[in-house]
Amino acid sequence: MRFGPSPGDGSRFIGAWADLAGVGRDHLRGGFSRHVFDDAEMQLRQWFAEQALRRGLEVENDRNGNVWAWWGAPAPGAVVTGSHLDSVPGGGAFDGPLGVVSALLAVDELRLRGVTPTQSLAVACFMEEEGGRFGLPCLGSRLLTGAVDPDHVRRLHDVNGVSVAEAARRVGFDPSTMGPDPARLASIGTFVELHIEQGRLLRGVDAAAAVGVGSEIVAHGRWRFTITGQGNHAGTTALADRQDPMIPAAAAVLAARRVLSGFDGAVATIGRITPVPGGTNVIASAVSLWLDVRHTDAAVTAAIVDAIAAEVRNEAAAEGCSVMVQRESMSDRVAFDPGLGLEISSRLDAPVIPTAAGHDAGILAPHVPTAMLFVRNPSGISHAPDEHADADDCAVGVQALADVLETLVT
Ligand code: GLV
Ligand code: MN
Ligand code: MN
Repeated sequence: MRFGPSPGDGSRFIGAWADLAGVGRDHLRGGFSRHVFDDAEMQLRQWFAEQALRRGLEVENDRNGNVWAWWGAPAPGAVVTGSHLDSVPGGGAFDGPLGVVSALLAVDELRLRGVTPTQSLAVACFMEEEGGRFGLPCLGSRLLTGAVDPDHVRRLHDVNGVSVAEAARRVGFDPSTMGPDPARLASIGTFVELHIEQGRLLRGVDAAAAVGVGSEIVAHGRWRFTITGQGNHAGTTALADRQDPMIPAAAAVLAARRVLSGFDGAVATIGRITPVPGGTNVIASAVSLWLDVRHTDAAVTAAIVDAIAAEVRNEAAAEGCSVMVQRESMSDRVAFDPGLGLEISSRLDAPVIPTAAGHDAGILAPHVPTAMLFVRNPSGISHAPDEHADADDCAVGVQALADVLETLVT
């Protein structure tokens, strides 16, 4: 049996969703820019706390900038759901907040159903899932699980040179407490994250399905290329005298598309390039660019980076420039709990799909039984203002999440 979209639920979803519509709108880029610890993200944290308190949930900040709202006392074996509040620059409305709003509405739904949990249930908002401000994605869940060195995290800085430690302090968080939190990790018995689908797999598998169940996240990582040349005058510097780092940077962009023909199923993206100093009439002295590579097999992602780096180094040598490549993050392929996924997909009669998008669920999955629900995204567009999910589908997502949570907490 499929879930039938219910108009009543759809309007309930729209009511709750409306609160977020004005927060962090990016009038320059379009969409939303909500970066960890900035005004918009802090406003969303405030909104979340208010919504949780209104529902009688106990709100607490953990030592890693993640926020938790508890129905029942924090205790080992709790059922945890939620997602994140931050966005990419100029991102869509749904990536992250859909999972948080749906979690709150699922709590309402469980109460409407008269469910009395025998396990505690928590809604969590994880810090800096996108890495949009400090570059390293899933910061909160990586810190919590011990997947990253807290000293390294405290020193990461944004484009204005503000470190994680400073940014945290400015909004009242103590960065010295950041680090592995085994007690909290032990409190998570099961984690279920609902998320908008960020591609077109669901409709390819089953066009009638409003909700899918995640099977795995492919391997993915980010690399920073710093190409150094000689800053100079755009008019008076003869071509033969130039050491222009933009030339190897351009080669990187083209290589990131060309080398993929040798690696079936892989994607590579350069979505961010920063020339220094960045003047129209200035040959840059350096260019930083960030490469994002994804494939089921981590060894293939590494081979792709090597192939692109080799092309960039060749171009750089011809131009008299130097190249430094640093890996900023890497997440190996991770499978969600197969038994839990199977159970959920048969309970919801929902198809099972993999994803090439990163999630906190992927960081938690090696530690606790984890599942993901994906809500249909008609165009498949994400990380862009045109990202969209229909309210009726979101309402189906809430019902589906409530169903899953109900079986887990009772
Ligand atoms: C986050 O959505 C990512 O996949 O980078
Ligand atoms: Mn995202
Ligand atoms: Mn997300």
